[in-house]
Amino acid sequence: MGNIRVHIETFGCQMNKLDSETAAEALLRAGFEIADGPDSADVILFNTCSVRQHAEERVYSRIGALKLAKRQRPHLVIGVLGCMAQKDGELVFRRAPLVDIVCGPRHEADLAELIAEARSGRRVLALDNGRILTPSPPRQARRGRMGGEGRERTSEPARASADLIVADHAPPPYAERDGRTRPSPFHAFTAIMLGCDNFCSYCVVPYVRGREESRPPEDVAAEVARLAESGVREITLLGQNVNSYAFGLPQLLRRIHDTPGLERIRFVTSHPKDVSDELLAAMAELPKVCKHLHAPAQSGSTRILHQMNRRYTREHYLDMIGRARRMVPGIEIASDFIVGFPTETEDEFMESVDLVRRVEFNQCFIFKYSPRPGTKAADIPDDVPEDVKKRRNTELLAVQEVVSTRRNRQKQGRIMDVLVEGASKNDPGKLAGRTDGNDILVFEGPESLAGTIVNVRITGSTALTLFGTMNDER
Ligand code: SAH
Ligand code: SF4
Ligand code: F3S
Repeated sequence: MGNIRVHIETFGCQMNKLDSETAAEALLRAGFEIADGPDSADVILFNTCSVRQHAEERVYSRIGALKLAKRQRPHLVIGVLGCMAQKDGELVFRRAPLVDIVCGPRHEADLAELIAEARSGRRVLALDNGRILTPSPPRQARRGRMGGEGRERTSEPARASADLIVADHAPPPYAERDGRTRPSPFHAFTAIMLGCDNFCSYCVVPYVRGREESRPPEDVAAEVARLAESGVREITLLGQNVNSYAFGLPQLLRRIHDTPGLERIRFVTSHPKDVSDELLAAMAELPKVCKHLHAPAQSGSTRILHQMNRRYTREHYLDMIGRARRMVPGIEIASDFIVGFPTETEDEFMESVDLVRRVEFNQCFIFKYSPRPGTKAADIPDDVPEDVKKRRNTELLAVQEVVSTRRNRQKQGRIMDVLVEGASKNDPGKLAGRTDGNDILVFEGPESLAGTIVNVRITGSTALTLFGTMNDER
Protein backbone atom coordinates (compact mmCIF):
# COMPACT_ATOMS: atom_id res chain seq x y z
CA MET A 1 0.00 0.00 0.00
CA GLY A 2 2.99 2.23 -0.70
CA ASN A 3 1.13 5.23 -1.95
CA ILE A 4 -1.86 5.80 0.28
CA ARG A 5 -1.48 9.41 1.33
CA VAL A 6 -2.79 10.60 4.69
CA HIS A 7 -3.51 14.12 5.85
CA ILE A 8 -4.12 14.79 9.56
CA GLU A 9 -5.70 17.97 10.94
CA THR A 10 -5.41 18.51 14.66
CA PHE A 11 -7.73 20.42 16.98
CA GLY A 12 -7.48 20.80 20.76
CA CYS A 13 -4.68 20.55 23.24
CA GLN A 14 -1.05 19.49 23.24
CA MET A 15 -2.05 15.94 24.06
CA ASN A 16 -3.92 15.84 20.76
CA LYS A 17 -0.89 17.20 18.92
CA LEU A 18 1.17 14.41 20.42
CA ASP A 19 -1.49 11.84 19.51
CA SER A 20 -1.48 13.08 15.91
CA GLU A 21 2.27 12.60 15.84
CA THR A 22 1.82 9.09 17.22
CA ALA A 23 -0.84 8.33 14.60
CA ALA A 24 1.26 9.72 11.75
CA GLU A 25 4.29 7.70 12.76
CA ALA A 26 2.28 4.50 13.15
CA LEU A 27 0.92 5.04 9.64
CA LEU A 28 4.36 5.76 8.19
CA ARG A 29 5.65 2.55 9.73
CA ALA A 30 2.74 0.71 8.11
CA GLY A 31 3.78 2.05 4.68
CA PHE A 32 1.50 5.06 4.32
CA GLU A 33 2.72 8.46 3.15
CA ILE A 34 1.98 11.90 4.57
CA ALA A 35 0.10 13.99 1.97
CA ASP A 36 1.12 17.55 1.11
CA GLY A 37 -2.35 18.70 2.06
CA PRO A 38 -6.01 17.64 2.05
CA ASP A 39 -6.34 18.00 -1.73
CA SER A 40 -3.81 15.31 -2.53
CA ALA A 41 -4.80 12.97 0.31
CA ASP A 42 -6.48 9.56 0.04
CA VAL A 43 -7.28 9.66 3.74
CA ILE A 44 -8.16 12.76 5.77
CA LEU A 45 -8.14 12.38 9.54
CA PHE A 46 -9.48 14.99 11.95
CA ASN A 47 -8.08 14.68 15.45
CA THR A 48 -10.82 16.35 17.42
CA CYS A 49 -11.46 18.18 20.69
CA SER A 50 -14.69 18.21 22.70
CA VAL A 51 -13.75 20.65 25.41
CA ARG A 52 -16.12 23.31 24.05
CA GLN A 53 -19.06 23.13 21.65
CA HIS A 54 -17.29 25.49 19.27
CA ALA A 55 -14.36 23.08 18.80
CA GLU A 56 -16.82 20.38 17.72
CA GLU A 57 -18.68 22.67 15.34
CA ARG A 58 -15.47 23.59 13.58
CA VAL A 59 -14.78 19.93 12.84
CA TYR A 60 -18.27 19.29 11.49
CA SER A 61 -18.01 22.29 9.22
CA ARG A 62 -14.58 21.10 7.95
CA ILE A 63 -16.07 17.68 7.21
CA GLY A 64 -19.10 19.24 5.51
CA ALA A 65 -16.74 21.17 3.24
CA LEU A 66 -15.38 17.86 1.91
CA LYS A 67 -18.68 16.91 0.26
CA LEU A 68 -17.50 17.81 -3.23
CA ALA A 69 -14.07 16.24 -2.73
CA LYS A 70 -15.73 12.99 -1.68
CA ARG A 71 -17.97 13.04 -4.76
CA GLN A 72 -15.00 13.65 -7.05
CA ARG A 73 -12.75 11.15 -5.27
CA PRO A 74 -15.05 8.37 -4.07
CA HIS A 75 -12.13 6.41 -2.61
CA LEU A 76 -11.42 9.27 -0.16
CA VAL A 77 -11.55 8.01 3.42
CA ILE A 78 -12.57 10.45 6.15
CA GLY A 79 -11.81 9.67 9.77
CA VAL A 80 -12.65 11.35 13.07
CA LEU A 81 -10.12 10.70 15.84
CA GLY A 82 -9.67 11.94 19.36
CA CYS A 83 -12.00 13.20 22.03
CA MET A 84 -15.13 13.85 19.97
CA ALA A 85 -14.86 10.33 18.53
CA GLN A 86 -14.78 8.91 22.04
CA LYS A 87 -17.54 11.19 23.28
CA ASP A 88 -20.06 10.62 20.50
CA GLY A 89 -19.17 7.27 18.93
CA GLU A 90 -21.66 6.32 16.24
CA LEU A 91 -23.44 9.61 16.57
CA VAL A 92 -20.61 11.06 14.45
CA PHE A 93 -21.72 8.89 11.49
CA ARG A 94 -25.25 10.15 11.90
CA ARG A 95 -24.24 13.79 12.10
CA ALA A 96 -21.63 13.54 9.37
CA PRO A 97 -22.53 10.76 6.93
CA LEU A 98 -19.31 11.37 4.95
CA VAL A 99 -17.29 9.89 7.81
CA ASP A 100 -15.90 6.36 7.40
CA ILE A 101 -13.85 5.95 10.58
CA VAL A 102 -14.53 7.01 14.15
CA CYS A 103 -11.50 6.23 16.31
CA GLY A 104 -11.07 7.32 19.92
CA PRO A 105 -7.84 7.94 21.83
CA ARG A 106 -5.46 5.00 22.44
CA HIS A 107 -6.39 3.40 19.12
CA GLU A 108 -3.99 5.45 16.99
CA ALA A 109 -1.84 2.35 16.49
CA ASP A 110 -4.81 0.54 14.88
CA LEU A 111 -5.35 3.14 12.19
CA ALA A 112 -3.61 1.23 9.39
CA GLU A 113 -6.03 -1.66 9.91
CA LEU A 114 -9.02 0.62 10.32
CA ILE A 115 -8.18 2.47 7.10
CA ALA A 116 -7.85 -0.83 5.23
CA GLU A 117 -11.34 -1.80 6.46
CA ALA A 118 -12.73 1.57 5.43
CA ARG A 119 -11.18 1.28 1.97
CA SER A 120 -13.03 -1.97 1.47
CA GLY A 121 -16.26 -0.13 2.09
CA ARG A 122 -16.89 -0.71 5.78
CA ARG A 123 -17.66 1.88 8.40
CA VAL A 124 -15.49 1.37 11.43
CA LEU A 125 -15.81 2.45 15.02
CA ALA A 126 -12.92 2.03 17.49
CA LEU A 127 -13.49 3.23 21.03
CA ASP A 128 -11.45 2.97 24.19
CA ASN A 129 -13.39 0.51 26.37
CA GLY A 130 -16.41 1.00 24.16
CA ARG A 131 -17.33 3.84 26.52
CA ILE A 132 -19.02 6.90 25.15
CA LEU A 133 -20.54 9.82 26.95
CA THR A 134 -23.59 10.24 24.77
CA PRO A 135 -26.26 7.54 25.07
CA SER A 136 -26.31 4.51 22.73
CA PRO A 137 -23.09 2.67 23.58
CA PRO A 138 -22.13 -0.27 21.38
CA ARG A 139 -24.43 -3.19 22.16
CA GLN A 140 -23.26 -6.61 23.24
CA ALA A 141 -20.29 -7.21 21.04
CA ARG A 142 -18.97 -10.54 19.89
CA ARG A 143 -15.44 -11.56 19.07
CA GLY A 144 -14.53 -10.22 15.72
CA ARG A 145 -12.17 -10.74 12.87
CA MET A 146 -9.67 -8.23 14.13
CA GLY A 147 -8.37 -10.47 16.90
CA GLY A 148 -4.68 -10.92 17.57
CA GLU A 149 -1.66 -9.32 19.20
CA GLY A 150 -2.67 -10.58 22.58
CA ARG A 151 -5.52 -8.13 22.94
CA GLU A 152 -9.11 -9.06 22.90
CA ARG A 153 -10.90 -7.44 20.01
CA THR A 154 -14.62 -7.38 19.69
CA SER A 155 -16.78 -6.49 16.79
CA GLU A 156 -20.37 -6.37 15.90
CA PRO A 157 -20.98 -6.41 12.18
CA ALA A 158 -24.56 -5.37 11.76
CA ARG A 159 -25.05 -2.19 13.77
CA ALA A 160 -27.26 0.51 12.42
CA SER A 161 -24.41 2.63 11.25
CA ALA A 162 -21.07 0.92 11.93
CA ASP A 163 -19.98 -2.28 10.22
CA LEU A 164 -17.09 -3.01 12.53
CA ILE A 165 -16.67 -2.07 16.17
CA VAL A 166 -13.42 -2.31 18.11
CA ALA A 167 -14.05 -1.67 21.77
CA ASP A 168 -11.12 -2.74 23.87
CA HIS A 169 -8.92 -0.78 26.26
CA ALA A 170 -5.76 -0.63 24.17
CA PRO A 171 -2.37 -0.23 25.79
CA PRO A 172 -1.23 3.39 25.78
CA PRO A 173 -0.07 4.16 22.27
CA TYR A 174 3.26 5.73 23.24
CA ALA A 175 5.07 5.53 19.98
CA GLU A 176 8.56 4.48 19.27
CA ARG A 177 8.84 7.88 17.67
CA ASP A 178 11.76 8.52 15.41
CA GLY A 179 10.94 12.19 14.88
CA ARG A 180 9.86 12.05 11.25
CA THR A 181 6.64 13.86 11.98
CA ARG A 182 7.74 15.96 14.94
CA PRO A 183 6.74 19.59 14.32
CA SER A 184 10.09 20.89 15.61
CA PRO A 185 13.48 19.19 15.48
CA PHE A 186 14.42 20.72 18.83
CA HIS A 187 11.28 20.43 20.90
CA ALA A 188 9.19 17.38 21.74
CA PHE A 189 6.19 16.49 23.86
CA THR A 190 6.22 13.36 25.98
CA ALA A 191 3.14 12.03 27.74
CA ILE A 192 3.83 11.09 31.34
CA MET A 193 0.23 10.33 32.15
CA LEU A 194 -3.06 9.81 30.40
CA GLY A 195 -6.56 10.62 31.55
CA CYS A 196 -7.85 12.70 34.44
CA ASP A 197 -9.53 11.89 37.76
CA ASN A 198 -10.40 15.43 38.81
CA PHE A 199 -13.89 15.72 37.37
CA CYS A 200 -14.08 19.49 37.38
CA SER A 201 -17.80 19.96 36.98
CA TYR A 202 -17.61 21.68 33.56
CA CYS A 203 -15.07 19.39 31.96
CA VAL A 204 -15.51 16.55 29.48
CA VAL A 205 -11.89 15.37 29.60
CA PRO A 206 -12.27 12.70 32.33
CA TYR A 207 -15.10 11.12 30.33
CA VAL A 208 -13.31 11.06 27.00
CA ARG A 209 -9.78 10.36 28.22
CA GLY A 210 -10.64 7.98 31.03
CA ARG A 211 -8.97 7.44 34.41
CA GLU A 212 -5.48 8.62 35.25
CA GLU A 213 -2.74 6.28 34.21
CA SER A 214 0.88 7.20 34.92
CA ARG A 215 3.67 5.98 32.74
CA PRO A 216 6.55 4.29 34.55
CA PRO A 217 9.46 6.71 35.11
CA GLU A 218 11.93 4.35 33.40
CA ASP A 219 9.83 4.48 30.21
CA VAL A 220 9.71 8.26 30.31
CA ALA A 221 13.45 8.49 30.98
CA ALA A 222 14.23 6.11 28.10
CA GLU A 223 12.08 8.08 25.70
CA VAL A 224 13.56 11.39 26.81
CA ALA A 225 17.06 9.98 26.28
CA ARG A 226 16.11 8.80 22.78
CA LEU A 227 14.59 12.15 21.92
CA ALA A 228 17.61 14.07 23.20
CA GLU A 229 19.87 11.82 21.17
CA SER A 230 17.86 12.66 18.07
CA GLY A 231 18.41 16.39 18.55
CA VAL A 232 15.66 17.44 20.97
CA ARG A 233 16.83 20.21 23.30
CA GLU A 234 13.57 20.94 25.09
CA ILE A 235 11.04 18.44 26.40
CA THR A 236 7.53 19.23 27.56
CA LEU A 237 6.14 16.58 29.87
CA LEU A 238 2.42 16.26 29.24
CA GLY A 239 -0.54 15.27 31.32
CA GLN A 240 -3.94 16.74 32.18
CA ASN A 241 -2.68 17.12 35.72
CA VAL A 242 1.02 16.32 35.87
CA ASN A 243 1.15 17.06 39.59
CA SER A 244 -0.67 13.85 40.31
CA TYR A 245 1.89 11.79 38.40
CA ALA A 246 1.82 8.59 40.44
CA PHE A 247 5.59 8.20 40.70
CA GLY A 248 6.20 11.80 41.78
CA LEU A 249 6.79 14.71 39.40
CA PRO A 250 9.73 16.18 41.39
CA GLN A 251 11.40 12.76 41.34
CA LEU A 252 10.80 12.43 37.61
CA LEU A 253 12.30 15.88 36.98
CA ARG A 254 15.41 14.88 38.94
CA ARG A 255 15.64 11.57 37.13
CA ILE A 256 15.62 13.03 33.60
CA HIS A 257 17.49 16.22 34.43
CA ASP A 258 20.95 15.06 33.46
CA THR A 259 19.95 13.46 30.17
CA PRO A 260 22.84 14.25 27.82
CA GLY A 261 21.95 16.83 25.19
CA LEU A 262 18.79 17.96 26.95
CA GLU A 263 18.77 21.68 27.83
CA ARG A 264 15.27 22.42 29.03
CA ILE A 265 12.37 20.66 30.67
CA ARG A 266 8.81 21.97 30.95
CA PHE A 267 5.66 20.33 32.22
CA VAL A 268 1.93 21.04 31.73
CA THR A 269 -0.71 21.25 33.14
CA SER A 270 -0.49 21.80 36.89
CA HIS A 271 -3.61 21.63 39.03
CA PRO A 272 -3.30 24.47 41.58
CA LYS A 273 -4.39 22.22 44.45
CA ASP A 274 -1.41 19.90 43.82
CA VAL A 275 1.46 22.38 43.43
CA SER A 276 3.62 21.17 46.31
CA ASP A 277 6.60 22.81 47.98
CA GLU A 278 8.57 19.78 46.90
CA LEU A 279 7.79 20.53 43.25
CA LEU A 280 8.67 24.20 43.69
CA ALA A 281 11.94 23.24 45.39
CA ALA A 282 12.80 20.99 42.43
CA MET A 283 12.04 23.83 40.02
CA ALA A 284 14.28 26.19 41.98
CA GLU A 285 17.09 23.69 42.30
CA LEU A 286 17.23 22.11 38.83
CA PRO A 287 18.68 24.52 36.27
CA LYS A 288 17.20 22.77 33.22
CA VAL A 289 13.65 22.97 34.56
CA CYS A 290 12.03 26.10 33.13
CA LYS A 291 10.72 28.55 35.67
CA HIS A 292 7.31 28.45 34.16
CA LEU A 293 4.14 27.11 35.72
CA HIS A 294 0.82 26.70 33.94
CA ALA A 295 -1.61 26.45 36.84
CA PRO A 296 -5.11 27.40 35.63
CA ALA A 297 -7.14 29.31 38.20
CA GLN A 298 -10.42 29.08 36.19
CA SER A 299 -12.08 31.64 38.46
CA GLY A 300 -11.21 34.15 41.15
CA SER A 301 -14.37 33.46 43.14
CA THR A 302 -14.37 30.83 45.88
CA ARG A 303 -18.09 30.14 45.39
CA ILE A 304 -17.64 29.55 41.66
CA LEU A 305 -14.52 27.45 42.28
CA HIS A 306 -16.61 25.31 44.60
CA GLN A 307 -19.30 24.96 41.94
CA MET A 308 -16.56 23.98 39.50
CA ASN A 309 -15.34 21.26 41.89
CA ARG A 310 -11.82 22.67 41.72
CA ARG A 311 -11.14 21.88 45.38
CA TYR A 312 -9.27 25.09 46.24
CA THR A 313 -10.38 28.55 47.29
CA ARG A 314 -9.29 31.94 46.03
CA GLU A 315 -7.09 32.18 49.16
CA HIS A 316 -5.46 28.79 48.53
CA TYR A 317 -4.71 29.85 45.00
CA LEU A 318 -3.13 33.13 46.09
CA ASP A 319 -1.17 31.27 48.74
CA MET A 320 0.15 28.86 46.09
CA ILE A 321 1.22 31.81 43.92
CA GLY A 322 2.97 33.39 46.91
CA ARG A 323 4.87 30.17 47.64
CA ALA A 324 5.84 29.82 43.97
CA ARG A 325 7.16 33.38 43.77
CA ARG A 326 9.07 33.04 47.05
CA MET A 327 10.61 29.66 46.32
CA VAL A 328 11.28 30.09 42.59
CA PRO A 329 12.48 33.65 42.01
CA GLY A 330 11.58 34.94 38.55
CA ILE A 331 8.92 32.28 37.98
CA GLU A 332 6.38 33.04 35.24
CA ILE A 333 2.84 31.82 35.84
CA ALA A 334 0.22 31.20 33.20
CA SER A 335 -3.47 30.55 33.74
CA ASP A 336 -6.79 29.65 32.16
CA PHE A 337 -10.11 31.25 33.08
CA ILE A 338 -13.68 30.34 32.30
CA VAL A 339 -16.12 33.26 32.21
CA GLY A 340 -19.87 32.93 32.45
CA PHE A 341 -19.95 29.68 34.43
CA PRO A 342 -23.61 29.06 35.41
CA THR A 343 -24.79 31.46 38.14
CA GLU A 344 -21.59 33.60 37.95
CA THR A 345 -22.58 37.09 39.08
CA GLU A 346 -20.96 40.33 38.00
CA ASP A 347 -19.26 40.59 41.42
CA GLU A 348 -17.90 37.08 41.10
CA PHE A 349 -16.61 37.86 37.63
CA MET A 350 -14.90 40.95 39.10
CA GLU A 351 -13.07 38.61 41.47
CA SER A 352 -11.54 36.95 38.40
CA VAL A 353 -10.60 40.39 37.08
CA ASP A 354 -9.02 41.18 40.41
CA LEU A 355 -7.10 37.90 40.45
CA VAL A 356 -5.68 38.58 36.98
CA ARG A 357 -4.53 42.03 38.11
CA ARG A 358 -3.17 40.81 41.41
CA VAL A 359 -1.26 37.73 40.23
CA GLU A 360 0.14 39.29 37.07
CA PHE A 361 0.19 36.16 34.95
CA ASN A 362 2.50 36.22 31.97
CA GLN A 363 -0.23 34.63 29.87
CA CYS A 364 -3.93 33.87 30.26
CA PHE A 365 -6.22 31.76 28.13
CA ILE A 366 -9.81 32.87 28.59
CA PHE A 367 -12.84 30.82 27.57
CA LYS A 368 -16.56 31.38 27.55
CA TYR A 369 -18.31 28.60 29.46
CA SER A 370 -19.69 25.97 27.14
CA PRO A 371 -22.03 23.34 28.63
CA ARG A 372 -20.83 19.80 27.91
CA PRO A 373 -23.62 17.21 28.00
CA GLY A 374 -22.98 14.51 30.57
CA THR A 375 -20.92 16.70 32.92
CA LYS A 376 -22.19 17.83 36.33
CA ALA A 377 -22.33 21.51 35.41
CA ALA A 378 -24.54 20.73 32.41
CA ASP A 379 -27.34 20.06 34.94
CA ILE A 380 -27.21 23.68 36.10
CA PRO A 381 -29.05 25.99 33.71
CA ASP A 382 -26.56 27.85 31.49
CA ASP A 383 -28.00 31.13 32.72
CA VAL A 384 -25.34 33.70 31.84
CA PRO A 385 -26.49 35.17 28.52
CA GLU A 386 -24.14 34.84 25.54
CA ASP A 387 -23.61 38.59 25.23
CA VAL A 388 -22.61 38.78 28.90
CA LYS A 389 -20.14 35.92 28.44
CA LYS A 390 -18.73 37.69 25.42
CA ARG A 391 -18.35 40.96 27.27
CA ARG A 392 -16.69 39.29 30.28
CA ASN A 393 -14.36 37.46 27.93
CA THR A 394 -13.31 40.67 26.19
CA GLU A 395 -12.96 42.50 29.48
CA LEU A 396 -10.75 39.88 31.09
CA LEU A 397 -8.60 39.67 27.96
CA ALA A 398 -8.18 43.44 28.02
CA VAL A 399 -7.10 43.33 31.68
CA GLN A 400 -4.55 40.62 30.89
CA GLU A 401 -3.29 42.64 27.93
CA VAL A 402 -2.57 45.60 30.16
CA VAL A 403 -0.75 43.29 32.60
CA SER A 404 1.26 41.60 29.80
CA THR A 405 2.21 44.91 28.21
CA ARG A 406 3.44 46.31 31.50
CA ARG A 407 5.30 43.15 32.51
CA ASN A 408 6.98 42.85 29.12
CA ARG A 409 8.02 46.49 29.24
CA GLN A 410 9.68 45.80 32.59
CA LYS A 411 11.75 43.10 30.92
CA GLN A 412 13.39 45.62 28.58
CA GLY A 413 17.10 45.95 29.19
CA ARG A 414 17.37 42.46 30.69
CA ILE A 415 19.38 39.66 29.10
CA MET A 416 17.53 36.42 28.59
CA ASP A 417 18.31 32.92 27.39
CA VAL A 418 16.35 31.95 24.34
CA LEU A 419 16.11 28.56 22.68
CA VAL A 420 16.09 29.49 18.98
CA GLU A 421 13.30 27.74 17.09
CA GLY A 422 14.14 29.15 13.63
CA ALA A 423 12.83 31.90 11.36
CA SER A 424 10.06 33.99 12.88
CA LYS A 425 6.66 33.27 11.34
CA ASN A 426 5.46 36.87 11.42
CA ASP A 427 8.83 38.40 10.71
CA PRO A 428 10.75 36.08 8.33
CA GLY A 429 14.30 37.47 8.12
CA LYS A 430 14.37 37.37 11.92
CA LEU A 431 14.70 34.53 14.40
CA ALA A 432 12.16 33.49 17.01
CA GLY A 433 12.48 31.42 20.12
CA ARG A 434 11.18 31.05 23.64
CA THR A 435 12.58 32.28 26.89
CA ASP A 436 12.77 30.13 29.99
CA GLY A 437 9.50 31.74 31.15
CA ASN A 438 7.83 30.76 27.84
CA ASP A 439 7.74 34.27 26.32
CA ILE A 440 8.20 34.53 22.55
CA LEU A 441 11.31 36.50 21.66
CA VAL A 442 12.10 37.82 18.16
CA PHE A 443 15.59 39.03 17.23
CA GLU A 444 18.08 39.22 14.39
CA GLY A 445 20.65 36.51 13.82
CA PRO A 446 21.76 33.75 11.45
CA GLU A 447 19.44 30.76 10.99
CA SER A 448 22.33 28.50 11.86
CA LEU A 449 21.54 29.32 15.50
CA ALA A 450 18.34 27.25 15.36
CA GLY A 451 18.35 24.68 18.13
CA THR A 452 20.86 26.53 20.29
CA ILE A 453 20.38 28.68 23.36
CA VAL A 454 21.61 32.23 22.96
CA ASN A 455 21.71 35.36 25.12
CA VAL A 456 19.48 38.17 23.95
CA ARG A 457 19.11 41.66 25.36
CA ILE A 458 15.49 42.77 25.40
CA THR A 459 15.05 46.06 23.55
CA GLY A 460 11.32 46.22 22.85
CA SER A 461 8.01 44.50 23.52
CA THR A 462 4.31 44.22 22.90
CA ALA A 463 1.76 42.35 25.02
CA LEU A 464 2.57 39.07 23.29
CA THR A 465 6.15 39.36 22.03
CA LEU A 466 9.56 40.46 23.23
CA PHE A 467 12.11 41.90 20.78
CA GLY A 468 15.84 41.99 21.31
CA THR A 469 19.35 41.94 19.99
CA MET A 470 21.92 39.26 20.51
CA ASN A 471 24.19 40.02 23.38
CA ASP A 472 27.82 40.01 22.29
CA GLU A 473 29.34 40.72 25.67
CA ARG A 474 29.82 37.09 26.52
N1 SAH B 1 -6.11 19.54 32.16
C1 SAH B 1 -5.94 20.87 31.82
C2 SAH B 1 -6.64 21.30 30.56
C3 SAH B 1 -8.09 21.14 30.48
S1 SAH B 1 -8.90 21.78 29.06
C4 SAH B 1 -6.31 21.65 33.04
O1 SAH B 1 -6.93 21.15 33.93
O2 SAH B 1 -5.93 22.79 33.10
C5 SAH B 1 -8.19 23.38 28.87
C6 SAH B 1 -9.01 24.50 29.40
O3 SAH B 1 -10.27 24.55 28.75
C7 SAH B 1 -9.35 24.42 30.86
O4 SAH B 1 -8.31 24.84 31.67
C8 SAH B 1 -10.56 25.31 30.96
O5 SAH B 1 -10.19 26.65 31.20
C9 SAH B 1 -11.19 25.22 29.59
N2 SAH B 1 -12.44 24.46 29.62
C10 SAH B 1 -12.63 23.18 29.98
N3 SAH B 1 -13.93 22.84 29.89
C11 SAH B 1 -14.60 23.96 29.47
C12 SAH B 1 -15.96 24.26 29.22
N4 SAH B 1 -16.91 23.35 29.39
N5 SAH B 1 -16.27 25.51 28.79
C13 SAH B 1 -15.30 26.45 28.64
N6 SAH B 1 -14.01 26.22 28.87
C14 SAH B 1 -13.64 24.98 29.29
FE1 SF4 C 1 -10.68 18.90 33.05
FE2 SF4 C 1 -10.27 19.54 35.56
FE3 SF4 C 1 -9.15 17.34 34.57
FE4 SF4 C 1 -8.29 19.72 33.79
S1 SF4 C 1 -8.16 18.89 35.88
S2 SF4 C 1 -8.72 17.98 32.47
S3 SF4 C 1 -10.14 20.95 33.79
S4 SF4 C 1 -11.34 17.69 34.84
FE1 F3S D 1 -9.79 18.77 23.91
FE2 F3S D 1 -9.47 16.26 24.40
FE3 F3S D 1 -7.48 17.92 24.79
S1 F3S D 1 -11.29 17.42 24.83
S2 F3S D 1 -8.52 19.82 25.35
S3 F3S D 1 -8.40 17.45 22.86
S4 F3S D 1 -7.97 16.14 26.03
